[in-house]
Amino acid sequence: MKESVDLLIYNIKEIVTPEPPYPKKGKTLKDILVINNGAIAIKNGEIYDFSTNEKIRDLYRGDSEIDLKNENIVLPGFIDPHTHLIFGGSREEEFLLRLQGVSYLEIQKRGGGINKTRKDTFLISQEKLIEETRKKLNSGISYGITTFEIKSGYGLDIDKELTLLEIINKLREESFVKIIPTFLLHLLPEDEDKNIFLKKLFDILPYIIEKNLSQNIDIFIELGAFDLDIGDKILERGKNLGFNISLHIDQFNNIGGADLAIKYNVNSVSHIDLTDEEKLYEFGEKNIVGIIFPLERLIFSREPKRGREIIDSGVPLSISTDFNPGTSPSLNFPLIISLSIIREELTIEEAINSSTINSAYALKIHNEVGSIEKNKRADLLIFDLDSYKKIPYFVGMNFIKYVIINGEVKRVV
Ligand code: NIG
Ligand code: FE
Repeated sequence: MKESVDLLIYNIKEIVTPEPPYPKKGKTLKDILVINNGAIAIKNGEIYDFSTNEKIRDLYRGDSEIDLKNENIVLPGFIDPHTHLIFGGSREEEFLLRLQGVSYLEIQKRGGGINKTRKDTFLISQEKLIEETRKKLNSGISYGITTFEIKSGYGLDIDKELTLLEIINKLREESFVKIIPTFLLHLLPEDEDKNIFLKKLFDILPYIIEKNLSQNIDIFIELGAFDLDIGDKILERGKNLGFNISLHIDQFNNIGGADLAIKYNVNSVSHIDLTDEEKLYEFGEKNIVGIIFPLERLIFSREPKRGREIIDSGVPLSISTDFNPGTSPSLNFPLIISLSIIREELTIEEAINSSTINSAYALKIHNEVGSIEKNKRADLLIFDLDSYKKIPYFVGMNFIKYVIINGEVKRVV
């Protein structure tokens, strides 16, 4: 007698998934499990079992079943560990200006950049902001993102940052995808004294933890944003309160953010475009995940092959959209994978590990999502492709046919 499960997916041309140990780094970043002619049994929103077709179909029958006729492949959902998904307006004018040679930090100095988006975010009503953010979430899901880290960061001051965190949490409660909110210290409020800002911040941090608005803090360590001194003070307090820490470092200038990352043993460091090699080795030793943004790097015409250098230094690598209105306005995750291979010299297997399990590791949710393993959340992608090697090959195209979230099937095309 076969055991019944909620959903059985069978005749899968390839099941493609990371395998422990995690995080993947160095040579193990190349390892991927491929099961040809496989099947997956799903029960109560979780992966109940998976193996070859024969084994699984002998053991189970599904209340509903999907026959992929050996034409389609299945991967775990993409985990995006770094997005600035909640904002109003857009910045196409400065996008074009930058391509004419005006720098990002120069535009920021002139009142554009993050400060423009800060204003735009609160020009629209809260209802409109929520509606716009829902649309972006849906767009990301159609590109295969099933876990979104979402940062605040476009509040004009601390109160408005709290409003953004509250909205992110509202979306987290209503949404079927997994959302991880992060409190981002992006720029100091215009004309606010550093010490007054710090006092307000320290008053509010315990409240953020208590109300479970966010367990994560990120800081933009950069000229014109947060310097090492204030960064250090925030991290010391944040760590003591139990926050997980991630940092934006070495994007436009190397001002020593890597030292803070090492001192506070953070979960992840983003950008690391200009980080010194010996610091990369230390990240690798400490399992600090390095998150890079192949699209943002293309937009800023960075030298290629940085991804390869980071991997060769032993850092567990993650790739992400960095979706935001300034430096990376796209949620097309398969495109990010293509670019990571074309420009950053990753192999396709490295790109898959960097889009799934290592990103989950950066968010400390790798026991729950990021790979196809028993008892993990059934967040899966069914591609209308017969080989995982075709994902980067069809550049900019989207062959995702179904996104399965928590065991529920959502049709994309
Ligand atoms: O990750 N560099 C800081 N934060 C974003 C950009 C935000 C913006 O320009 O609006 C980033 O690139
Ligand atoms: Fe960012």
